[in-house]
Amino acid sequence: MNDFSYEFSRLGLYDLNDLVALEKICFPNAWTEEQFWLCLKQKQYYIFGLKKKGDLAAYMSFQHIDYEMEILKLAVHPAYRRKGIGKRLLGLVLQNCIEMGIEQAYLEVRRSNTAALALYTGFGFIQTGIRKGYYPDNKEDALLLFLNLITLQKV
Ligand SMILES: CC(C)(COP(=O)(O)OP(=O)(O)OC[C@H]1O[C@@H](n2cnc3c(N)ncnc32)[C@H](O)[C@@H]1OP(=O)(O)O)[C@@H](O)C(=O)NCCC(=O)NCCS
Repeated sequence: MNDFSYEFSRLGLYDLNDLVALEKICFPNAWTEEQFWLCLKQKQYYIFGLKKKGDLAAYMSFQHIDYEMEILKLAVHPAYRRKGIGKRLLGLVLQNCIEMGIEQAYLEVRRSNTAALALYTGFGFIQTGIRKGYYPDNKEDALLLFLNLITLQKV
């Protein structure tokens, strides 16, 4: 993405309405306003976003536990997809995590989510396991992915 007019920042309670709206567009099992509120209030949770002229184009949330982080959600508004924004946001957040001293990143992703899988494996995430029938809405398997951020640092 060569467009530097996107503003990268950590999101807060003032972004709650925009987060809920984007979440509803992007996920069938959308987080509620209360879930986002709790996430924004607790210090181990982080949500970063990319905004274009104040509009939230993408966000990524994660939980920080000691030297590890678990990616919770990464979403790009459909109007902004396939422009490198997901890649840019993931890269910026992982860089931020390295600066926070985080060494290992984990996540779960639906087996059918080819876009997300391509994005994550492009960063070097590798599959470490499967949770059979993990997602309650359609009993789809979750793939467990892992990335050693120390390796990423050396790239
Ligand atoms: C997954 C998602 C975040 C990708 O965001 P994006 O901004 O469109 O992705 P990018 O343009 O940065 O693409 C980065 C790479 O991801 C892969 N990718 C993205 N969309 C893809 C698609 N529809 N099909 C296949 N690969 C895709 C490609 O490898 C791409 O690299 P390339 O353009 O060099 O080929 C976006 O599709 C989305 O928000 N999906 C709905 C929410 C979701 O499923 N989130 C992930 C689980 S938490």
